[in-house]
Amino acid sequence: MSRIKNQTLDINLNLNVRGIPQSATLAINEKSNELKKQGKKVYKLGLGQSPFPVPQVVVEALKSNAFQKDYLPVKGLPQLREAVAEYYCRVQKVCYTADDVLIGPGSKELMFLLQFVYYGDLMIPTPSWVSYAPQANIIGRIVRWIPTKRENKWRLTADELEEYCKDDPHRPRIIIFNYPSNPSGITYTVEELKKIARVAREHKIILLSDEIYGELHHDGRHVSISRFYPEGTIISGGLSKWCGAGGWRLGTFTFPKNLRWLLDAMASVASETFTSTSAPIQYAAVRAFQGGVSIEKYLWSSRKILKALGKKITDKLKAAGIHVHHPDGGFYVFPDFSDYKLKLNEKRIFNGKEFCDRLLEETGVAILPGLVFGRPEDEFTARISYVDFDGVKAVSAAEQLNSSALINGDFLETYCSNMLEAIDLICDWINE
Ligand SMILES: Cc1ncc(COP(=O)(O)O)c(C=O)c1O
Repeated sequence: MSRIKNQTLDINLNLNVRGIPQSATLAINEKSNELKKQGKKVYKLGLGQSPFPVPQVVVEALKSNAFQKDYLPVKGLPQLREAVAEYYCRVQKVCYTADDVLIGPGSKELMFLLQFVYYGDLMIPTPSWVSYAPQANIIGRIVRWIPTKRENKWRLTADELEEYCKDDPHRPRIIIFNYPSNPSGITYTVEELKKIARVAREHKIILLSDEIYGELHHDGRHVSISRFYPEGTIISGGLSKWCGAGGWRLGTFTFPKNLRWLLDAMASVASETFTSTSAPIQYAAVRAFQGGVSIEKYLWSSRKILKALGKKITDKLKAAGIHVHHPDGGFYVFPDFSDYKLKLNEKRIFNGKEFCDRLLEETGVAILPGLVFGRPEDEFTARISYVDFDGVKAVSAAEQLNSSALINGDFLETYCSNMLEAIDLICDWINE
């Protein structure tokens, strides 16, 4: 019998991934679970996962398609590509055909493929979602950060974009533009979108418009920038946020016809990597994108809860003297604790990471430092993901309310008390 020799093999890792940590959001989730296992009360405000269930009609569609076992076409199930194209036509009045749509196992994977196949610079406003830059690093692409300002609610302005592009106006570039924003919850007005679209058109920038939180605009008034720059915008979407189905892993990219070369190149790489997205999930997703009364009702209930809770949380933070903006959509807020810098330094806290580590240790509240969203290390910004409540109970209670009824303080105390408690803990801790 041969024996396994206890010999160590050399570690030969691709230089691009050497030392690369696990995604910050997944890491905070694991750390929170670890503390929970040790019996500590933890408020999980780190992970950006929808608290709401998948709508029942979509679950039923998945059940009745569990038998679908064949590999599907690499670009996606034709009926689903069609449903996505019709969805944008119906909701955003921007018309595509099924051929313009690419389906993938999560929009994150599609973003990776796009960065992989495209030749050119990647521009990312900061703060922005945690995975854009690490994906670029893995591929070996240089990231150009475009800083934004707190006074502008952390939004990119057309002037800032122009300033950035004017020295080398014809350089090939992609900008990732995300709104309602993760991490700030802020969106853009139509005027602002038009101005940004104008600059993008002038410099022939490809706009990857990450609209994964679009359906969670708190007033249901999300406007896609593709309306103003159709020829250069790729819309990124999927089921993860508005449909509560992050774990189902289904993302969509919708392309203008003149960027078909990008879609085709991504599909070629996909055909040699993930092959196609899970078949039952794609069949169920057709139902999700078709919409209808029950899905609308579910969406309005989700939006109402997120709007009321976002306002309550930001009111509390503001009352405690913390800078924060009311969110317009999604389930994040991005407070800035910089006014407490001296006080924090006295507690031997000198940067955002130390701030979040100590907050978790001393209060059990898990949030993520601005650093992982591309902010400077010594800035005391952080993202609060306000999803630590029972979304199943909350959404079904909200669905029972009269359609014009607003969510009030009693509702939030009943269904989202954990969240309110967590925010009180942050306010008390910072002011103690
Ligand atoms: C801004 C943003 N874009 C994209 C994604 C990726 O979503 P998915 O891969 O689940 O479609 C997320 C998930 O957290 C996100 O917050």
